[in-house]
Amino acid sequence: MARRKIIAGNWKMNKTPSETTALINELKPLVANDEVDVVFCVPAIDIILAIEAAKGSNIQIGAENMYYEENGAYTGEIAPNMLTDVGVKYVIIGHSERREYFAETDETVNKKVLKAFEHGITPIICCGETLTQREQGIAIDFIRTQIKIAFQNVSAENAANAVIAYEPIWAIGTGKTATTAQAEEVCKAIRECIKEVYGSDVAEKIRIQYGGSVNAGNAAELFAEADIDGGLVGGASLKPDFGKIVNYK
Ligand code: G3P
Repeated sequence: MARRKIIAGNWKMNKTPSETTALINELKPLVANDEVDVVFCVPAIDIILAIEAAKGSNIQIGAENMYYEENGAYTGEIAPNMLTDVGVKYVIIGHSERREYFAETDETVNKKVLKAFEHGITPIICCGETLTQREQGIAIDFIRTQIKIAFQNVSAENAANAVIAYEPIWAIGTGKTATTAQAEEVCKAIRECIKEVYGSDVAEKIRIQYGGSVNAGNAAELFAEADIDGGLVGGASLKPDFGKIVNYK
């Protein structure tokens, strides 16, 4: 079954609101491609301006994080209905940087995933191993656990619409991309894990991205793999190169 590719940028903690409008205006014509889903996940303060700037284009705007409670005394957090209120369709959940610096766990990831679905936001659920785990040969086991916990109590219907981003931590921002074979091996194992939990229908529908030093030079080869349905792109999503990644063919 042919899955529609999804190519998302993760701006991380880059770009002020005024830089946001300028960057989207610059990238808009370059990322025009109706054959793939194009998502820009931007800092919370940039979201409203990004949505405004992206109007009339194929770009959809996502958030980089959200909280799992509805509202209340959670200083500094963003609630799901704040995102939907302005038209956000996607949210990155459990990026390794949030797990490392902001104490996110598989359990908080699961709560956020459930909450995102409750509000009709598509979660881009991140998983990935450290270099030590890869060298110890436990990468796939580790990722299977991350996936199983992230999807606890998620219905099959919602799971089929989720996006998973496989991001080996050692390949993020390092210029070191996983080889195409390494990336495909893990994305295939993730699909297998989803199949064990939900069956082949869901496994065939769910989209799995690769992330970690994706650039204009390696995107085509990575995205040609059977189980890689696009990319989650950091550094290169802030440059005109992102246009080449989106138009990788
Ligand atoms: O979420 C995207 C990411 O972590 C990869 O970043 O800069 O290696 O493309 P980068």
